[in-house]
Amino acid sequence: MSRHTIAVIAAAGAMAIAAGGATSQAQAQDVKIGLILPYTGPGAELSPEMDKAIDLYQKLNAAQIKPYKLTIIKRDSKAPNGAAAKIDAQELLTQEKVDVLAGWIYSPDAIASAPVVTAGKRLGVIMNAGTAFITNLSPYYVRTSFTLWQSSYVMGEEAAKYLHAKTAVVAYTDYPPGKDALNAFKYAFEHNGGKVIDAIPAGGPEATPDFTPFFQRVKDEHPNVLFVFVPAGDQATAVVKTFAALGMKAAGTQLIGTGDIVPDDLLQGMGESAVGLITVHHYNADLDNPQNKAFVAAWKKAYGPDSTPNFTSVGAWDGIAAINHALHATKGKIDDGAAAVKSLEGWKFNSPQGPIEIDPHTRDIVMNEYLDQVVKGSDGKLHEKVLATFHNVKDQCKELAIGPCAPKK
Ligand code: PHB
Repeated sequence: MSRHTIAVIAAAGAMAIAAGGATSQAQAQDVKIGLILPYTGPGAELSPEMDKAIDLYQKLNAAQIKPYKLTIIKRDSKAPNGAAAKIDAQELLTQEKVDVLAGWIYSPDAIASAPVVTAGKRLGVIMNAGTAFITNLSPYYVRTSFTLWQSSYVMGEEAAKYLHAKTAVVAYTDYPPGKDALNAFKYAFEHNGGKVIDAIPAGGPEATPDFTPFFQRVKDEHPNVLFVFVPAGDQATAVVKTFAALGMKAAGTQLIGTGDIVPDDLLQGMGESAVGLITVHHYNADLDNPQNKAFVAAWKKAYGPDSTPNFTSVGAWDGIAAINHALHATKGKIDDGAAAVKSLEGWKFNSPQGPIEIDPHTRDIVMNEYLDQVVKGSDGKLHEKVLATFHNVKDQCKELAIGPCAPKK
């Protein structure tokens, strides 16, 4: 809350007392949240999934948010190269005087914003960007989304243990989270007896490439599995369709990936091409727990039966719940970034994805990962079947302190 708002509330309270009345909480205390998301360009199809979650949380939790009122001020991060996101963060802090920053779908946007968040001394809640080292870049960052090391590491282990794969090719979008996905998968797969025989950088996050030449190269190499990370959205559909079009499964290669390649909102549109696909992720809309059942039902009631939340929605839902926690824990002084961060260290929450916690040492999320398979249900629709659950998974990049997560010398 800004000092101005506190002063107004104090003045209003003094007036109420002077008039003989008790101090009233009836006047909502306004809290400004600056939300940085791509509303144009790549990823613009993901931002509404997050906006809807933030709206829904406020609607369903009005009593828990009181006596505060959340005002969301949105800014477009545009192309996923960090340039616009950094300016957004500066403007939100200096002109809009926001109490908290949040959002960031793409890692380069969160990386570029880090020095601004640090200088502004405001809590920054990362609701999607998944490169592991981002939370090391500012002491004010707290992440409610995921890291690619969480999903890709488990997928690497299970490619060897569950699928008994001996050889793999990795295709990844060539930017920080893609490199994390490659390194995490390779580390875990090779520590469990597998061998990554090729790693193919497959374009950047700015535009969906034609995956045909990359996957043709994989087909010629005949690995047991092709592990893919691309950012969710249009690239995911292109991956699944191209894999099917090339007849790679019949040629003996199983497509596996992080859950980014089968986001729930796009699953039905992928059709038969997606059936059988195996991924590891922290969320799918079919998860059978009470929080998720209530969340998906409320979502469909609000946005229609054909609308489905995906993992970005849950990152935003958990992020706004985290902000609400910090707001109450600091008694409205959430603009004290250090106090807000401290209140979230060790915070636990029953999310639609299952139980989550913010690691007090890394400010990163600890959560379940699920080994999922796409199946066709008796309703004729595609669903995610959970084959195995891995509890309380931490970011393995920081746990192992390797690569970009190694301590600075
Ligand atoms: C990221 O840029 O960190 C990112 C974007 C989309 C995803 C996952 C990670 O699906």
